[in-house]
Order: sequence, then C-alpha cells, then structure tokens
Amino acid sequence: MKKYVSLFIYLLILSGCSNPGGRSWMIPVTIDPSDLDYTPSSMESFEGRRNQLIDSLSGSYVILRSADQCSANRHEFRPNNYFYYLTGYTARGSYAILAPDPHQSFTLSVPYQSIRTLIYEGGKLPEEEIREKYRPDRLLTYRESRELIDSIVQTGATVYMDRSDRTFLRELQRLAGEDETIRFRHVGELVDEIRVIKEPVEVEYLQKACNITAMALTNVMKECRPDLYEFQIESVIEGTFLEYGSAMPGFNSIVGSGPNSTILHYEPNMRKMEDGDLLLMDIGAEYGYYTADITRTIPVNGRFTPEQRTIYQLVLDAQLAAIEQMKPGNMFMDGHMAAKEVIVKGLTELGLITDPTSHWQIKFYILYPSSHFLGMDVHDVGDKGGSFTQFMEQTPLESIESRVLEPGMVLTIEPGLYFREKGLEQLHEIFEAEADSIEMAQFIETVGPIYEQYINTGVRIEDDILITTGGNINLSRYAPKEIDDIEQIMR
Ligand code: GLY
Ligand code: MN
Ligand code: MN
Repeated sequence: MKKYVSLFIYLLILSGCSNPGGRSWMIPVTIDPSDLDYTPSSMESFEGRRNQLIDSLSGSYVILRSADQCSANRHEFRPNNYFYYLTGYTARGSYAILAPDPHQSFTLSVPYQSIRTLIYEGGKLPEEEIREKYRPDRLLTYRESRELIDSIVQTGATVYMDRSDRTFLRELQRLAGEDETIRFRHVGELVDEIRVIKEPVEVEYLQKACNITAMALTNVMKECRPDLYEFQIESVIEGTFLEYGSAMPGFNSIVGSGPNSTILHYEPNMRKMEDGDLLLMDIGAEYGYYTADITRTIPVNGRFTPEQRTIYQLVLDAQLAAIEQMKPGNMFMDGHMAAKEVIVKGLTELGLITDPTSHWQIKFYILYPSSHFLGMDVHDVGDKGGSFTQFMEQTPLESIESRVLEPGMVLTIEPGLYFREKGLEQLHEIFEAEADSIEMAQFIETVGPIYEQYINTGVRIEDDILITTGGNINLSRYAPKEIDDIEQIMR
C-alpha cells in the first residue's frame, strides 16, 4: 500500500512539474531542516576527504581556521569553506590542523569560551560530543591550538592554508618572523580537485538549494506586477529562502528590471518596475553551505512583447543546445560553444550581426564564458582547463582547449543577450585595438535601426547541471523557463 502512495505522490509531483497549469506548478521541497543533521555515515565523508589529503602531505601541514573574513557576500557567520569541507565543524573561532603524523593527523580546537561568550552566544557543544561527532585525534583549547600553530610555523615546514584569508596569512607570516610567502601555500592546491567531484550528500544539498530557489522564482512570477520596486521582488525571493530553511543567499541577489536587466552584476535593486519591462533575477539560496545559481528573466506585466519574445527564445534555444552537450567525455566549454553557435546564427538572421565570422562582432554580444563550476562557492573552485581570456578568444571554428567533463561535476550554463542603451556608442571604445574604425562605423549604421528595437532588453537564462554517467541532470529543472509556462503562471 505504502508503495502505491509513494508512486501516487511521485506521479503527482511529475505531473505538477511538467504541466504548470496556473498555480499548480509543484516543486518538491519541504520545510524540514533535519536533512542537515549529521549521521555517523555522513561524518565519514569528512574523514575520507581528510585522509586523501593527509596521504599527500609529505612533511607539510594544513592549518585552517573557521572564521571567514573572506565571505564578503554573507551577512551572518558561516565557516570558511575549506575548514568546513574537511571537518564538518561549524563553530566560530576554531582551528583545524592536519599533520603528516599517523597518530595525530587531525587536531581540532574548541572556541575560546568565557562567561561573556556564554551570555552573548550561548553555551557550546560539550567537548565529549565534539570528540564523538567530529572524531579529532586531539581536541585542544583555543590557547593550546595557538601554541601548536606557532610551533609548526617555527619548524620551517611548508604550511597549506587558505591564502584568500589575507588576515590569517599575514598573521602566519608574522609568526614566521619574515616574509616567507613561499612557505604558506594555498590549500586549494591539495583540495580543489577533490571539491570538483561532488559526493551524493553535496548533490543533495545543491538539489535542495535549487528547489528553494525555484520556489522563490515561481513565487515572484505569481506576485510580480508593474509599479513594484525591485527590492520588493528581492524580499519575495529572500523571504522564500528563509521560509524553507536557507540561512542566506549564496551571493548578493541580482534583481534588475528594464535598463538594469542589461547590467550583468546589478545589485542595488532599487528601481520601480514599469509596464513593459523585463525583469532579470540571478539568485541562489544556500543550503548546507552549498549554493544554487539560477537566472530567470520574466516580463513584469506577465506577457513578453514580440521583441522580448524573439530575444528570449533565442537565448533559450542556445541554452537548450548547450545543455545537450554537457555530458561525460565532452569538454567543459562545449556547452558554451554550442550556445554561441545558436546565438550567432540567430543574431545574423535578425540583422544584428553582419558578418558571422567577425570575432569582434561576436564578442560584442557574447560577453563571458557561459559556464563555471558550482558548489560551496558560487564560482566554485577547480581547474576549467583554460582562462577567461582564452575562452573569449575562441572562435566557433577553433578546437577547444578545456577539460573533459566527468560524472559528479556541477556547472552552470548561463548564456545571455544584453542590449544596453548606449551599447553601440561604446563599440569604438571596446574594440579600439582590434577592429577597423571604418568597419565599426559601417556596422553601427547597418545594425543601429534594428538594435534600437531591443534597447533595455537583457535576457539571461541560467541552470545548474550535474554531469552523470548517462548525461546530465538539470538540478534547477523546477524553475520554469519556457515562455508559455512563465506566461501561464503569471496570468
Ligand atoms: N551569479 C553570478 C553568476 O551567475 O555567475
Ligand atoms: Mn548567476
Ligand atoms: Mn553563474
């Protein structure tokens, strides 16, 4: 019987998702944070990661602290990503030390406690529980851990730490007595490749982060109307995040309407939206320290204009073509290249590109590589097999130098088109060094009247893709993106 009930619920979820039907778009997300509770088996994940690392230490040490001065995007405490990834521990003011010592490879320290911290921050987990849960070989007080760090630095051994934590780096350099930058190497050299392949528990958190974000986007589709301010939309978004147990966004929410939809990382979110505007939302709930990164673009009044529809469908077609290329064995940039091909062809047909082989014309519209890794960081760590510049310099006919996709990788795919009010006027400044000025003037004259029709149209569609052995799973599949679905929900 139970089996049939589950089957019924599963079918209900599937039908709700594939057939939006006004307000019945269903997203499988529950208000239940118990999935964040650690079980002994989930703690084995952290131990496994440490063991991989300790094997490669050969005489060096890893020193990490939980305090994260680098999380400038965050408004409340969250632990440093490397610290958390290797320990599962989240208390502010702790240190983790990994040593090439078979008996004491993992040292953890408890935060400094006083009557003052007790009054302000409440009691901490008892030491016995910390030992049992996080399984350090050695548990030290804050003071003892500082002494240990000092003695490690004095040995002259190589120390791996998070070099983006500049304050801690300076502190260690001071302890070393001179500017021995070479001895303090970035822990990412040892950890980033492990972080690239997501374990099932990480995928679970990413999936929930995506589902909460999809819920926020559909809530906006139901609430959106002209004359609301962008920050009111932001409040629907971040209110939904909190409602479902996401403590904070993984990055500042981008909520840009009308002209602001064309600004890639617009963040003030202060404008009053007008009838006829597009609204671009690039947002991500964080769950269990993993962040979603989804972009949807909708018409503020619920109906796309013919011009908006044209550009939107082109970006969507490009994105769908890209997702088809995101499978094991293909290259990291194959999705981007597929999207680029669709966009260049579409813009040429619209008369917005006069020469589809012109490098600068393509770069005028395609502003960034369409993928990045996703995980604990929105632009997650890991070698993509090429730099931003290399990816931008690639023409559609050139072979692609990027890394091979493997199951367990999670990456975004986010093509977009942005028609800035003064876009064409900026052309000479942008391509001064690489294009002929007469050629550019001719381009402006031919394309200008067409470009004019699309001014203040900014469209980006971004999904989060898990590479699997059989192809991929779109983790953000519950966020509607087909024109008919969006218009139906907004009706
Ligand atoms: N939200 C930033 C990005 O999409 O890369
Ligand atoms: Mn984004
Ligand atoms: Mn992104």
